[in-house]
Amino acid sequence: MFPICFILFFLFLSTSNAAVQDFCVGDPMGPESPAGYSCKPVTKVTIDDFVFSGLGIPGNTTNIINAAVTPAFAAQFPGVNGLGISAARLDLAPGGVIPMHTHPGASELLIVARGRITSGFISSANNVYYKTLKKGDSIVLPQGLLHFQVNAAKIHSVAFVSFSSPVPGLQILDFALFANNLPSLLVEKTTFLDDAQVKKLKAVLGGTG
Ligand SMILES: *[C@@H]1O[C@H](CO)[C@@H](O)[C@H](O)[C@H]1NC(C)=O
Repeated sequence: MFPICFILFFLFLSTSNAAVQDFCVGDPMGPESPAGYSCKPVTKVTIDDFVFSGLGIPGNTTNIINAAVTPAFAAQFPGVNGLGISAARLDLAPGGVIPMHTHPGASELLIVARGRITSGFISSANNVYYKTLKKGDSIVLPQGLLHFQVNAAKIHSVAFVSFSSPVPGLQILDFALFANNLPSLLVEKTTFLDDAQVKKLKAVLGGTG
């Protein structure tokens, strides 16, 4: 038998493990680093930091893509900060599309909740993988690869997505090419598109130059 002092010592060791940091609720006012936001003091943390109701509200699809992305990333949902996960809701009106885009920081798992959605991605070997998904179907979109979602139903379609990062990032290809002030000549050179096509897309998407 161990003397009682040994037992107490091991008990102390096991309870001191409880000092492991359980969470790091993001403080959006504090500094942001590649590891995420700095932690809100535990004394200020409440259940509301771990609950997000925004995904229950349809996004506004009155826009050029007839679609909306409602993010539940660390900036909107401080409880996911530091936990390696986040989520979003996609609303696609009839004809709606989430244009070709990447999340540099995360893989994505999409689950169709309403309607039908055609989704897929292009690998870095330029192989194409896509399928029309029905309610209840899922697709996984690997980190960093270009991918898209198109409404394949005549009704409003909805999907919920989860990400393998609280800060997945989002870069939309058409916006990157045509919604900024990179001179048209350079856009034409680097895309092989002609001047009229580039000027037209810049006008539609809000680019200049
Ligand atoms: C949706 O967005 C459009 C365009 O910005 C705006 O005119 C409309 O008021 C918005 N609808 C709602 C319900 O917020």
